[in-house]
Amino acid sequence: MPVKGTFFVETYGCQMNEHDSQKMCELLQKQGFSKAGAIEQADVIVINTCAIREKAEHKVYSSLGSLRSAKIEKPQTVIVVAGCVAQQKKHEFLRKFRHLDLVLGTHQISQLPSLVSRILEKRERIAAVEFVDNIESLHMSAPNYSSSPICSYVTIMQGCSNFCSYCVVPYTRGKESSRSLEEIQEEVSGLATKGIREITLLGQNVNAYGKDLYNFRRFDDLLQRLSSIGGIERIRFTTSHPKDFDSALVEAIASIDKVCEHIHLPLQSGSDKVLKDMKRGYCLNDYFEKIELLRTKVPKCAVTSDIIVGFPGESEEDFEDTLNALQKIRFDQIFSFKYSSRPGTIAQGMPDQIPEETKRERLAKVHALQDSITEAWHRDMEGSIQQALVEGSGRLPDQFHGRTRTNKIVNFDDNGSLSLGDLVNVRVTKGLKHSLLGSIV
Ligand code: SAH
Ligand code: SF4
Ligand code: F3S
Repeated sequence: MPVKGTFFVETYGCQMNEHDSQKMCELLQKQGFSKAGAIEQADVIVINTCAIREKAEHKVYSSLGSLRSAKIEKPQTVIVVAGCVAQQKKHEFLRKFRHLDLVLGTHQISQLPSLVSRILEKRERIAAVEFVDNIESLHMSAPNYSSSPICSYVTIMQGCSNFCSYCVVPYTRGKESSRSLEEIQEEVSGLATKGIREITLLGQNVNAYGKDLYNFRRFDDLLQRLSSIGGIERIRFTTSHPKDFDSALVEAIASIDKVCEHIHLPLQSGSDKVLKDMKRGYCLNDYFEKIELLRTKVPKCAVTSDIIVGFPGESEEDFEDTLNALQKIRFDQIFSFKYSSRPGTIAQGMPDQIPEETKRERLAKVHALQDSITEAWHRDMEGSIQQALVEGSGRLPDQFHGRTRTNKIVNFDDNGSLSLGDLVNVRVTKGLKHSLLGSIV
């Protein structure tokens, strides 16, 4: 195939977006483009955007602004905005940014090559933003652009139907729909043949996997079947939703060797009033009970979470409830955010929006508390032996890094015989704030 030019894909947002970018790279490469060294040099530039918070959304405006001069210098450059902001803004983006050629919705990724050809031939400006029912067209693996030669994402479901009151995802990704079990199995077998040792199953609410399929499937059954694929050593998944997290999943983590002992289970708030206003579908006590069951059956399981501070109407007492919950649960790690009002969501119109200053103070308190808890967990691990998958070079020369089964980064010295993809036992010599140091046993 003749080389058509170069591409560059810039990514913001979650793992799902990262994976979508990998798919777009793979598609452009198949079409005859090769990867450019820098964004301004590329003939096709894709900005894959995230709309989850205002700050994330703003990144697209600064990226687009700085591409204006690239377009003036080289008018034949094709500039594409993809992802969740593209899906939200639709045609409005074409009107607003005259140097933009294509707005590519979240269900239109597979159309990228044909749309780029159309633009190159006819110089049309296009917004392709329909949601499609046939979700199979959305999925493909991207072996050449996977973030690592041994770890890969696998999308198992698209969209979200939960409509938490603060969240844009149901509007930007469409309704929850699962891929067929057979197709996922086939993709994972293919990845195993290419040398992938660890997979991370992706969905906004993986515990709801299969509930929408005509031949109803269960998430724990999917885990069981994927675990029988030779070559795959570790299975991870994200994100779990507390309302659908059940004892069958706990059983699966406890009994299937390849399923790693880590769960990301976003709590969002420790106040029942706020959880209700967020429309999360569980109360704090439900959450505690689920964690207790998990820790009883899988004592070494790491639990991470997401927390939002400053949701509309969050009082000092509500916020104290969140701090108390963090203290009681002792997550291994959390991602915490200031509530950000998002267009079109229910929470946008709620009274008692919290001042920015208060949100900032609350976030700082959450950070300080969680940092001390995370560090304490890491120190507790000193002296323990952890299995690590060798994933790449470490912080220092002659070091490698990997992750424990509980998803903690560990750096360790090369013993001279290590290769990427090896599973090794490492003794933790030091627990740091964000990672571990270890030595090979
Ligand atoms: N599907 C996952 C998370 C998706 S978004 C789940 O339900 O848990 C990742 C995280 O971003 C959320 O868990 C939430 O903590 C945060 N988030 C989503 N919308 C937000 C908003 N409007 N303001 C601040 N944080 C938000
Ligand atoms: Fe957003 Fe809630 Fe869906 Fe997660 S479950 S993506 S927070 S609507
Ligand atoms: Fe962002 Fe869309 Fe992911 S809003 S977090 S890129 S689903």
